[in-house]
Amino acid sequence: MELIKNLQWRYAVKKYTDERVSENKIDQIIESVNLSASSCGIQPYRLIVVTNPEVREKLSLGSFNSQILDSSHLLVFAGFKNISSEYIADYVAMMEEQRALEAATLNSLKDAVTSFFATQTPEQHAVWSAKQAYIGLGTALIAAAELKVDATPMEGFDPELFNKVLGLSEKNLHASVIIALGYRDAANDYLASMPKVRLPINEFSSRIN
Ligand SMILES: Cc1cc2nc3c(=O)[nH]c(=O)nc-3n(C[C@H](O)[C@H](O)[C@H](O)COP(=O)(O)O)c2cc1C
Repeated sequence: MELIKNLQWRYAVKKYTDERVSENKIDQIIESVNLSASSCGIQPYRLIVVTNPEVREKLSLGSFNSQILDSSHLLVFAGFKNISSEYIADYVAMMEEQRALEAATLNSLKDAVTSFFATQTPEQHAVWSAKQAYIGLGTALIAAAELKVDATPMEGFDPELFNKVLGLSEKNLHASVIIALGYRDAANDYLASMPKVRLPINEFSSRIN
């Protein structure tokens, strides 16, 4: 399986070269994330691609992760703060349209999802949305590895700073997790030549037959 080889090849890069990733590859990574599964299928997060150096300088303040600034592209996975009934209605209407269904065919789905979220607190909405964003993060890491693009998933950043600099709060978004993309600087990255550390499969996974 080629995927296993690609996953063995990838690692969380600490130091990138100046080489830029082509927009075609970035587009493919974005499309892969958009194809990720999400609970209820309503994609409650957005992906923001940041290349602007001044913006990235601001985002990197106070973080130990120099990759926020020194990499080709920065992907920001931003979960919804609130799942509104309007958003659910719009998404279900899009489902009906994309599946060529009569309007209101999926009303029972819409009502079930809406009443579920009505029982949840705003904090629960935000936590649930961030979980979905992390599924997208996993997809992006796999897609990047297949394209032989290096990536660093990161939680080591200031979410409130990101929300402010990128104007996320007013868009009902909250920075959940980020990825730097680029090409490894193997000569200057101490991790580039290190073996991957993982549990033995039998310790990690068990079977109940
Ligand atoms: C959600 C998440 C957050 C992470 N945050 C950081 C981070 O802030 N900085 C960093 O250098 N690596 C970060 N990592 C990388 C992990 O340390 C790395 O994935 C782990 O050690 C396994 O190594 P590998 O990815 O190189 O195989 C993060 C990984 C994940 C999945």
